[in-house]
Amino acid sequence: MTNDEHAVPPVIALGEKLARMSDPWTPKVVAQLNDYHCKLAKLEGAFVWHSHPETDELFLVVEGEMGIAFRGDRTVRLRPGEMIVVPAGMEHKPFAETSCSVLLIEPAGTVNTGDTGGDRTAPADDWI
Ligand code: NI
Repeated sequence: MTNDEHAVPPVIALGEKLARMSDPWTPKVVAQLNDYHCKLAKLEGAFVWHSHPETDELFLVVEGEMGIAFRGDRTVRLRPGEMIVVPAGMEHKPFAETSCSVLLIEPAGTVNTGDTGGDRTAPADDWI
């Protein structure tokens, strides 16, 4: 962070960041605002059921299509330009039949697998 109050903040080109990302389900931080991170992630296939007891989680689809399954056989589908806020504590299972790119907004340090953990857990603070 610079102390130059006249510095223009950087434009963050999501397409350029995504072009350098390959591994699905591995979010990368692209910006911080206050205590929140904006992360890009590529999704492909199905993720694990999990919830985030401490925080809501925002998904905004950038490219492709994704779905999120909720308990009770409920599923939502999201297209580019559409977003959803999953409330804290609500179990969810994101999936994408083909490759999908999303922007996540959530508190810094939020773990992708929430309270489930396991081998799908990605580092929460990797920047790109
Ligand atoms: Ni989640």
